[in-house]
Amino acid sequence: MQQNVVSDTSRARSAFEQDVVSGLKQSQKSLPAKYFYDTYGSALFDQICELEEYYPYRTELAMLPSVAQDLSHIVPEPLDVVEYGAGSLVKIRLLLRHMSQIERFIPIDIAGEHLENAADDLRQEFPKVTVEPMAADFTAELNMPGLNGAKRMAFFPGSTIGNFSPQFAQTFLQRVRSSLGPGALLLIGVDTKKSANMLHKAYNDSEGVTRKFNLNILTHINRELDADFDTEYFDHYAFYNPTEGRIEMHLISQKAQTVSIGDQRFYFDSGESIHTENSHKYTPEQFLQLAQGAGWRSVRKWVAGEQLFTVFLLRASED
Ligand code: AVI
Repeated sequence: MQQNVVSDTSRARSAFEQDVVSGLKQSQKSLPAKYFYDTYGSALFDQICELEEYYPYRTELAMLPSVAQDLSHIVPEPLDVVEYGAGSLVKIRLLLRHMSQIERFIPIDIAGEHLENAADDLRQEFPKVTVEPMAADFTAELNMPGLNGAKRMAFFPGSTIGNFSPQFAQTFLQRVRSSLGPGALLLIGVDTKKSANMLHKAYNDSEGVTRKFNLNILTHINRELDADFDTEYFDHYAFYNPTEGRIEMHLISQKAQTVSIGDQRFYFDSGESIHTENSHKYTPEQFLQLAQGAGWRSVRKWVAGEQLFTVFLLRASED
């Protein structure tokens, strides 16, 4: 058992190292956004969600109670819910309060310790629900626990789908469909296209929390991969790219510098960027087209005031 734990940890470390090294070898240096989420990064993301400027979180949160009430009339019983990138398990509570159909809840998140703690709290609050956390990279192909006869609904809130390229978003939605089996449902939150100014503020908050969140990816790499990024000499840069329909986050090197990761060295020009995240925004039509290409059909759509945010209920198509 102990040996399995050790080899799982070293496998995860080497995947992390390969991802980081291959990203930094590209001419446009990049790092996968999933590595923001160590324990501190997850806590920083929770702080972002509390910010006035970061409208997606609070807008979706305000929509979910009435979405859940509507769902309680539509979805079958019993229901298993699988949440991808579940984080602090705040949003599922809004479903559980209104949907007595939910018997089993499987939250999946890469930040295992944070997830276990959140799952313990959830069990206390909803003792009738079986909570089976899975510490995993939900973007990879996963072996889901066996079907128990219940219908399944994937829950993917927060517009995390926007952090994938449109091409990978489609691959991911196809995987979810095939891993959940026939008749599966998907409840997904998607951020919409809106004024560049409002988007800019959401990713350049006045308290600098998003800045800390962005820089923390370097601290995470330093700790796990024996690297020596000096976070004093990188700065946060986020902007809306209207051609691609996405917010881009970068870290800009503040001077010419060389960084070591283990025994490998990486040179940064002054002003050179590391591209750390994309956050794609979709019109409802664009998103439905993407989902249809992945084998999902629209059942219902909820739109927040001023088209700030959308939530879709989709059903896996039979073919
Ligand atoms: C998790 N994800 C949907 C967030 C977003 O808005 O793309 C991550 C984030 N990055 C900066 N602020 C929030």
